[in-house]
Amino acid sequence: MSTSRTIHQLFQLIIASFITITWIIQQNTPTSTALFNQEKHPSFKTIIDPINCKTVPMDKEPHYTIQQYPNVSKSAVIDHAPWSSHQEVVIKDALLDQQILNMQSDSLFIDVGANIGQMTLTGLIRSIHTMAFDPLEYDITKICSGVKETLDRGLMPLNGMDTLHLYRAVVGNESRGNVSITRPDDGFGKFEQASLFKDTIGAARKPQTLVEEVVPMVKLDDIVPTNLPVGLVKIDVQGFEWPVVQGMKGLLERTSGYPNIVHYEEQERITTLAGFQLGTVQTFLEGYGYICTRLGSDINCVKQ
Ligand SMILES: *[C@@H]1O[C@H](CO)[C@@H](O)[C@H](O)[C@H]1NC(C)=O
Ligand SMILES: *[C@@H]1O[C@H](CO)[C@@H](O)[C@H](O)[C@H]1NC(C)=O
Ligand SMILES: *[C@@H]1O[C@H](CO)[C@@H](O)[C@H](O)[C@H]1NC(C)=O
Repeated sequence: MSTSRTIHQLFQLIIASFITITWIIQQNTPTSTALFNQEKHPSFKTIIDPINCKTVPMDKEPHYTIQQYPNVSKSAVIDHAPWSSHQEVVIKDALLDQQILNMQSDSLFIDVGANIGQMTLTGLIRSIHTMAFDPLEYDITKICSGVKETLDRGLMPLNGMDTLHLYRAVVGNESRGNVSITRPDDGFGKFEQASLFKDTIGAARKPQTLVEEVVPMVKLDDIVPTNLPVGLVKIDVQGFEWPVVQGMKGLLERTSGYPNIVHYEEQERITTLAGFQLGTVQTFLEGYGYICTRLGSDINCVKQ
């Protein structure tokens, strides 16, 4: 009799604990921020590890610049090169920033050739999931310093870093272990000229020496989650645009959630020196129904 009551009480206790634990788990399950966490998202194909900015050492020579977005009353900190003269940048009528600020909150911004993160930070202050790719250690340090400084100054939400998915890699037409990217020497700076093609470096002034960095190459189709809509793909890769778009055929072939905007830079001299033909990318994108407009050295392609 007493044994059966004890078992009964024990059983009730187990049920109660179970309910409590379930409740605690539910209270602690982040909903929106975990949506796209590389470690947890079931559709995320982790072929290379994302960079965790918290583990990247701070930039020893930061040149913090406030980037203001008056339209949305926000600002971000960008860590420019030490020789840069910028103190404050006001983003008023830049088309690309405007397009990022106008993106749907549930869509993904892909920043290929992120450099020091001017566009990446625009995605982060807009609180949209932002995948940023850059091959250079210098750029990764600058991006992370800007992100951490923006967080420290309270300019983005505390969970702001959860929406950043940063990769040190070259984006191309296939995924492979190692490619060599060439950049100007440290004294020359101007790392935005880094390229897979040595000949394209030094338009106005040639650096004295070139430095190589070895990094993985990924194609976007291998790393972008299949079930997230892509709002915008920005490509700034010094002549390597054609391989990048060839590696995103899967995204372009989507019947829904395809990139609404593909915005890329194409400079005649650099594209030609890289061995590609001007207009190849545009013709390719038009084949998928995009309408492209040239604005200086940028081409903005839109598909409704
Ligand atoms: C800010 O708003 C103005 C007026 O609507 C618009 O012309 C401009 O492009 C916007 N800029 C950005 C960065 O959103
Ligand atoms: C990628 O492009 C290179 C040349 O640019 C070519 O040799 C290679 O076969 C291409 N890879 C794929 C998977 O198409
Ligand atoms: C890439 O190169 C580095 C250094 O040269 C080497 O340590 C690493 O094993 C290589 N990785 C692959 C996947 O080939």
